Amino acid sequence: MLVNLKTVLSLAEAGGFAVPAFNVYNMETVMGAVRAAEELRAPVILQVYPRLMKEETGYYLSPVILAAAKRATVPVCFHLDHGPSELETTRSIRYGATGIMLDGSTLPFEENIALTKRVVDTCAYLDVQVEGELGHVGMTSDKEMDEFTTPEDAKIFFERTGVACLAVAVGTAHGRYKKPPKLDVDRIRAIREATGGAALVLHGGSGVPDEEIKRGVAAGIRKMNFATDICYAFLDSCLEELQKPDRPVAVDSFMKRPIEAVKEFCMTRIKLVGADGKAK
Ligand code: 13P
Repeated sequence: MLVNLKTVLSLAEAGGFAVPAFNVYNMETVMGAVRAAEELRAPVILQVYPRLMKEETGYYLSPVILAAAKRATVPVCFHLDHGPSELETTRSIRYGATGIMLDGSTLPFEENIALTKRVVDTCAYLDVQVEGELGHVGMTSDKEMDEFTTPEDAKIFFERTGVACLAVAVGTAHGRYKKPPKLDVDRIRAIREATGGAALVLHGGSGVPDEEIKRGVAAGIRKMNFATDICYAFLDSCLEELQKPDRPVAVDSFMKRPIEAVKEFCMTRIKLVGADGKAK
């Protein structure tokens, strides 16, 4: 069933787990992620980068996500990931998104608050909730990490914007890590406390050691993002299939195995964040 961001976050808070948020790129990655959620009875978020929404892809992909979510017997939220401005957030809602991320993390503090708050207010009118970002979570290829989120700033940001959940910089980055990251779990706990229990989001989930993810969830991470590893699961399987002399040529038949590879990867992450069996 298609649900909004608030619904999946409430389940996560009540159950003390993190909702897995899987970035999807095409129909096959949607199918793999939703099959995993169905098989493990887990609530999930399917999220899309804003560049897809800007291009033709979002126009075609959004109805696929909506169809999958409506057909699913588990809660599925359709979320915009890293929306940079009101333009992308508006288009995503028009395409049917039920959750929005407004990423103002590279803006000065006050500007981030003002933009996020405007989007929160507009979205509230449409029963769509917003994820904000404070402290910029960069790329693994960045020379150095930006400063981590402070509990004091998080408290002010959370109270003044009214976001449903907050992405924080606590040691992760997007992409493939050169060496496995270590989370600042004490900071996650301190941010939770300062904000009175805000649902926190961890970006850059690919390649974070399992034990670190478990510690993060125990400290208050309620949404856990995975993108890069979904791409690898899909592409590695495509490459493997291409090596097989008897591979099917019909694209739909060829795609069966890559869809399964995405499903298998998503199932491992669903179990890791404790979302299995939590669908209501
Ligand atoms: P990874 O690509 O590192 O898994 O990060 C995903 C993410 O945080 C998407 O916003």
